[in-house]
Amino acid sequence: MSAPIVAKGLEGVVVGNTALSRVEGQIGRLTFRGYDIHDLARHITFEEAAHLFWKGELPTRAQYDDLKMQMAHARMIPNHVMQIARGLPKNSEPMDALRTLVSALGAGNPLKQPDLSAVMMLTAQTPILLAAFDRYRRGLEFIPPRGDLDHAANYLYMLSGTEPTAAQTRALNVYLVLLSDHGLNASTFAARVIASTWSDLYSCITGAVGALKGPLHGGAPSRALEMIEAIGKKENAETWMRAALAKKERLMGFGHRMYKAEDPRAEILRDLARGVCAPQLFELAQSVEQTGLQILHESKPAERIYTNVEFYSAVILHAVGLAKDMFTPTFAASRMAGWTAHILEQVADNRLIRPDAEYVGPAPRAVKAIDQR
Ligand code: COA
Repeated sequence: MSAPIVAKGLEGVVVGNTALSRVEGQIGRLTFRGYDIHDLARHITFEEAAHLFWKGELPTRAQYDDLKMQMAHARMIPNHVMQIARGLPKNSEPMDALRTLVSALGAGNPLKQPDLSAVMMLTAQTPILLAAFDRYRRGLEFIPPRGDLDHAANYLYMLSGTEPTAAQTRALNVYLVLLSDHGLNASTFAARVIASTWSDLYSCITGAVGALKGPLHGGAPSRALEMIEAIGKKENAETWMRAALAKKERLMGFGHRMYKAEDPRAEILRDLARGVCAPQLFELAQSVEQTGLQILHESKPAERIYTNVEFYSAVILHAVGLAKDMFTPTFAASRMAGWTAHILEQVADNRLIRPDAEYVGPAPRAVKAIDQR
C-alpha cells in the first residue's frame, strides 16, 4: 500500500464548509458573508458584524438597537469569576487571564451549550473580563460598563476610566470588525474541533484563546510594536532587521499562510493608522514596513511575503491607548464574534473532526519485563 500524502500544517486541505468569511489569499480579498471588508470597515460597528455572523444579515436599525440592549443586559459577570480575576497573580499574561476567566465562566453555568443567547452573552462579557483583570493587576478598582456606550467605547472606558473620543471609538470599531473572522484560522479550527465533540461553548473558547496566544497566530502585534520601538529611527531599520534574520528570527507583522498578496486588513489599518496615530510613530512604522518588505522579498523571493494584519494592528491599538500585552486579548475580544459563529455553524451540521496521522514510529515489538530492558 502506498504511503498517504501528509498535509503538514493542513495547508490547502479543505475540511468543511463555512458561510461566514471567505479568504481569497491569492488576490488579497476578504469578505464576510459576501460583503467586502473595505465596505464593512467604512460602515459598520462591531455589534453589526456580530449580528451579520450570528444571524446571517446586517441588522436593521431596530435589530441593531435590540442586539445592543441584549448585549448590555448580558454584561453581568458572576461573582466567582470576578474573584478569580482579582486573585490572579498580577504578573499573569492577560491572555492567560482571559483563558482562565472564560473557563471559569463555564463552571457551574447551566446555560453553557452553544446557542445564540450564550454566544451573545460571552461576546458581551469578554471586554469586561479583560478590563477587570487589567485594572485589578494595576491595583485599581473595577469600572462597570455603561449602558449608553457601545462595545468598543465601553472597552476603552472600562480600561481607562475616561470616555474615549469619537476617533478612538471609530478606530477600535474598525479594528474589531476587521479582525472578527478569518476563515479556518488555527484558533477557529481549534474551537470547531472542540465543538465537534459536543463539548460546551466555554471549553471551545478556552481552547481558541490558547491557540490565538501563539506568536505565529495572534501573539504577534505586541512583538511588532516592540520591533518598531527597538528600531527607534528609520536609519536603523535595515541593520536591525538584517541582524534579526541572520539570527533566524522572524520579522513580526509580515507573512501569512493564506495571503500571497497584501492582506487587505493591513491596507485598511495602514490608512486608519495614518489618521489616528502620532505622525512620528506612523512614519517610523511605514519605513520599518518598507524596509522589512524589501529585505524579505530579497531573502525569500519565492515566498511572496507581505505585511500582515498584525503590523498596523499594533500601531492602531497603541494609538487608542492600549498596553502592549492587551493587544492579543483585544484581538480575542474581536474574534469572539467569529469563533462563536463558527461554533454555531459547526453544531448546526456536525461531524466529529477526527483526522488521521501517518504512523512513523517503531514496528510492532514485544514488551520486555522491566528488569530486562
Ligand atoms: N520573517 C522572516 N521570515 C519569514 C517570515 C517573517 N515574518 N514569514 C515567513 N518567513 C519565511 C520562513 O522563515 C520560511 O523560510 P524557510 O523555509 O527558509 O524557513 C518561509 O518564509 C515560509 O514560512 P512559513 O512559516 O512556512 O510560512 P507560513 O505560511 O506557514 O507562515 C506565518 C505564516 C504567519 C507563520 C509566518 O509568515 C510568520 O512567522 N510571520 C511572523 C509572525 C506573524 O507576523 N504572525 C502573525 C500572523 S497574522
